[in-house]
Amino acid sequence: MRSHRLGVIPGDGIGPEVTEAALSILDAAQGRFGFTTERTEVPLGADTYLSTGELLTADAVTQLRGQDAILFGAIGSPKVTPGVLERGIILALRAELRQAINLRPVRLYPGVPTPIAGLTPQRCDLVVVRENSEGSYVGGGSTVHRGTPAAVATQGSVNTWYAVHRAVDFAFRLAAQRRGRVTLCHKTNVLVDAGALWLAVVDEVAARFPDVEHDYVHVDAMCMHLPVAPERFDVVVTDNLFGDIITDLGAVLQGGLGVAASGNLNIEGSAPSMFEPVHGSAPDIQGQGLANPAGAALSLALCLASLGEGQAAAAVESATAEVLSGLPALSGAGMGASTAELGERIAALVTEAGDGDGAAGGLAGPSLMTQLAAVQAGLSG
Ligand SMILES: NC(=O)c1ccc[n+]([C@@H]2O[C@H](COP(=O)([O-])OP(=O)(O)OC[C@H]3O[C@@H](n4cnc5c(N)ncnc54)[C@H](O)[C@@H]3O)[C@@H](O)[C@H]2O)c1
Repeated sequence: MRSHRLGVIPGDGIGPEVTEAALSILDAAQGRFGFTTERTEVPLGADTYLSTGELLTADAVTQLRGQDAILFGAIGSPKVTPGVLERGIILALRAELRQAINLRPVRLYPGVPTPIAGLTPQRCDLVVVRENSEGSYVGGGSTVHRGTPAAVATQGSVNTWYAVHRAVDFAFRLAAQRRGRVTLCHKTNVLVDAGALWLAVVDEVAARFPDVEHDYVHVDAMCMHLPVAPERFDVVVTDNLFGDIITDLGAVLQGGLGVAASGNLNIEGSAPSMFEPVHGSAPDIQGQGLANPAGAALSLALCLASLGEGQAAAAVESATAEVLSGLPALSGAGMGASTAELGERIAALVTEAGDGDGAAGGLAGPSLMTQLAAVQAGLSG
């Protein structure tokens, strides 16, 4: 029987709640599609930090490096100064495991309520390829005269040809498997140096993909186009900070932060990729069963696809879409069911799933899971 080593980092706040739901769905997928997972839980987050003072230990990295893939909940706590856990664990882990691409699908599933009037699933199916290793997330910063009116803070941004090229190349490869269109999102009219580098890389890569069209949109204009005309986009490639911001907007189009999924991809195969919902630890709803587990479930689907479990991935995606379409609201008490109950509903549908690619939830069109597999095959070939 096929077996996969899975690292699990539940983290803080609602992280453990949505991860537990995702693991119950994974149990169902294993039973239905005939594979096993050997799971290793790694306790990273606020509790560990507050009791030991440790963020990301060498032991934790070694344990995680030995996995085939990692499921991540969320990290962040009001008890810890902002940035300590986020930079010290999440960003550090993405860097240690060379997860160069943060992939964020923005897909509105049939029957799922969206705040955008008139938006249909046919008009909302794009993928954001966010550069995951640089930008202002690793640029140096400093503060002098802190806490005084003379304080001066600087925060840089790093943009190397190498990392930008890696992200842009991935975006073109993915677009070649999809509708054949790449949009660069940046702020070249103000961030002229970083912007010029990104534009030059896109021009160079585009020359190798004559069948993929490409265009450019400023990040501020993107915030207008995305809700009004998402059908204009297929694959959007962007830097770390802009990608972080526009995908929260993308999540709203899909029905809310609780629905959006992501993958931190190691595209060279040198370490495992890591899959996590886009949302954070949501301390405001922690421990009440009010978190929607769909983002975690759809991240599990991406994870299964990366492990070569394509049928299970499609079944989890389609079961999640079906459960979402029956909910009166997509977060909080209005969902009418707890985080765990929603996980059980998705798991029950996965148990009954047929062998088709996403057919059970009425999903049409080729699956992102299949497209990713083709891109990965091209990269290793
Ligand atoms: N990758 C990560 O682990 C990650 C990502 C973003 C934020 N954070 C951290 O999480 C903490 C909280 O950040 P925040 O409040 O800005 O963002 P958040 O995503 O945690 O929450 C924003 C809002 O969305 C709601 N929400 C989030 N997930 C939901 C779900 N699954 N179901 C229903 N509602 C949901 C929350 O209740 C909250 O009102 C901070 O410490 C932040 O740094 C971590």
